[in-house]
Amino acid sequence: MTSSIRDLLRAVPALTGSAPPFDPLSAPDDPTELFVAWLDEALAADIAEPHAMTLSTVDAEGRPDARTLILKDVDRVGWAFGSTLSSVKGRQLAMHPAAALSFWWPGQVRAVRVRGPVVQASTEESAADLAARSAAAREGVAEGDWALWRVVPEQIEFWQGAADRRHLRLMYERRGDGWSHAVVNGAQREDAG
Ligand SMILES: Cc1cc2nc3c(=O)[nH]c(=O)nc-3n(C[C@H](O)[C@H](O)[C@H](O)COP(=O)(O)O)c2cc1C
Repeated sequence: MTSSIRDLLRAVPALTGSAPPFDPLSAPDDPTELFVAWLDEALAADIAEPHAMTLSTVDAEGRPDARTLILKDVDRVGWAFGSTLSSVKGRQLAMHPAAALSFWWPGQVRAVRVRGPVVQASTEESAADLAARSAAAREGVAEGDWALWRVVPEQIEFWQGAADRRHLRLMYERRGDGWSHAVVNGAQREDAG
């Protein structure tokens, strides 16, 4: 008899990567700095497509939706991504300008989650982003339909798995002009690895 998919899934190891050293006590006050440091480390470690992320939005009925996108930039405003205004996500963002992003870098057993309101970039900036894409990628995009958006972070979680299962979870919350951050307990999950 063939194995059930459940048995096959149970046999697949999880959290097989190797986490770089990270001391949450020396975490910077600004989470953008930490994100860029982790992304730099993922790039240096040749992790495949570390700029791929899941963008989650909600539709008019509040039902969640999610898809994979490419991160375009991280700056003082937020995490940037591009798509068409006429896409499902474009219409969802017009109705409900808020989103969550999630990154998973298996080689380093690291994951990052970002949540917050979404702002649309200016027409000029959106056009510049489209112009920077390859001719093939621009094909089929109607005039004025391309947009760049940014998730303005209010909450960011940095998660790093550990071989001894003492997984680390560091939460940042926006507080006025600055940020607070703390290690969250209960990060050890029996089913994580
Ligand atoms: C690795 C990867 C990267 C992608 N990058 C983008 C992107 O940057 N922008 C985009 O609009 N769609 C991108 N897509 C396609 C989206 O996942 C999605 O299928 C499409 O945008 C339609 O989503 P929607 O119907 O929810 O609007 C990417 C897909 C993959 C697998």
